[in-house]
Amino acid sequence: MKIPVLLTILLFLVSMSISKAQTIYNENEVPLFEVPNPLITFKGKTISTTADWEKLRRPELHAFFKDNVYGRVPKNLKIDSYHILEQDDNALNGKALRRQVELTFTHNNKKLSFTILLYLPKHVKNAALFLGYNFYGNHTITEDEAVIISSAWSNNNEEFGIENNTLTAASRGKRTNRWAIEKIINAGYGLATIYYGEVDPDKNDLSDGIHHLLYSENQNQPKLEEWGSIAAWAWGLSKAMDYFEINPEVDASKVIVFGHSRLGKSALWAGANDQRFAGVISNNSGCGGASMSKRTFGETIAVINERFPHWFCTNFKEYNNNEGALAVDQHQLLALIAPRPLYVASAKEDRWADPKGEFLSTKYASSVYELYGKKGIGNMEMPNTNSPIHNTVAYHIRTGKHDVTDYDWEQYIKWANTHFK
Ligand code: GCU
Repeated sequence: MKIPVLLTILLFLVSMSISKAQTIYNENEVPLFEVPNPLITFKGKTISTTADWEKLRRPELHAFFKDNVYGRVPKNLKIDSYHILEQDDNALNGKALRRQVELTFTHNNKKLSFTILLYLPKHVKNAALFLGYNFYGNHTITEDEAVIISSAWSNNNEEFGIENNTLTAASRGKRTNRWAIEKIINAGYGLATIYYGEVDPDKNDLSDGIHHLLYSENQNQPKLEEWGSIAAWAWGLSKAMDYFEINPEVDASKVIVFGHSRLGKSALWAGANDQRFAGVISNNSGCGGASMSKRTFGETIAVINERFPHWFCTNFKEYNNNEGALAVDQHQLLALIAPRPLYVASAKEDRWADPKGEFLSTKYASSVYELYGKKGIGNMEMPNTNSPIHNTVAYHIRTGKHDVTDYDWEQYIKWANTHFK
């Protein structure tokens, strides 16, 4: 081969790899793609009744997400025991009940425990409850000194004084900005939270956390279609739900599962798997959460699998730089939550999570809600910033960054007031 030909090939290959690595932040660069129709089965049958949705389409979509995106939970594990570690009937200046309950799971002579921190408003009976994970321990969400500090592995965080992967009192109250507890309790809602690292430490090592309890002999990695960390975190939310069902203080029929970012991905998957959740809130969940993978805007499947190889099942890696081959997209994950109320929230500056892709997902999921006579996003255009849509399928984009703010909670509470009271 002549040198110029070789050079051209080389330049072409280099430019290909650069363009693959470049993040798309320009609408004009979004590729053309087909939006898989939630109401047409893989075999081409059009779904026009809720019965057919539930019998034919929903199960095949759910199975697809299980086998190819988040991974299957290998076995059904029941709560082995629960233990009330601490309780107070006069928490938060006498406004709330506080409970700290440890759930324990055992299998194959191995054990895992995680602790639910629960606040219930004293002035409301059968309050609806927001349930969501936190990133750095239950003690970070409040200044409440009684909240127990987890001994589970944590990511380090200089700003929060977290070193050696160990949580200490130095980080107490560091995340109060993300948890509008007073607003929630005053509005008559409960709040339950769990440190996600207790269910599965967020590192590329699936030999610990809940995974290792369920390995068969000589297994130390999930199989190709078995669960990654997001599915493990979603599992933990369902186990909290098992506990709420046996706790007479909680109205298990009104649990709204909530999550931010990677924990928003987990909340969506939990809501899709477990129809006992009455509602679902995804806060800035982005790639592998609410936003559409095929747009490849912001974070892509290849990038997320590269940076967080443990989050999804191994099969999902088939779609790295290969979104066209995906038979589904994330709006169909949202559709699995129908007809239960669903709220997707974006932030203007959170382009990594692709706000428009998050909005489009809610819009394309809406046909399934409409089948149930529920109000989705219909023909609406993407709203302006800070102009929420509070239908059964709700959406807002607020000003600001990737975060959970008081504005977000104010919207969730308003929306919940119309759908859960
Ligand atoms: C990273 C990751 C996102 C994720 C986020 C988070 O930015 O790329 O997918 O949502 O972390 O969980 O904070």
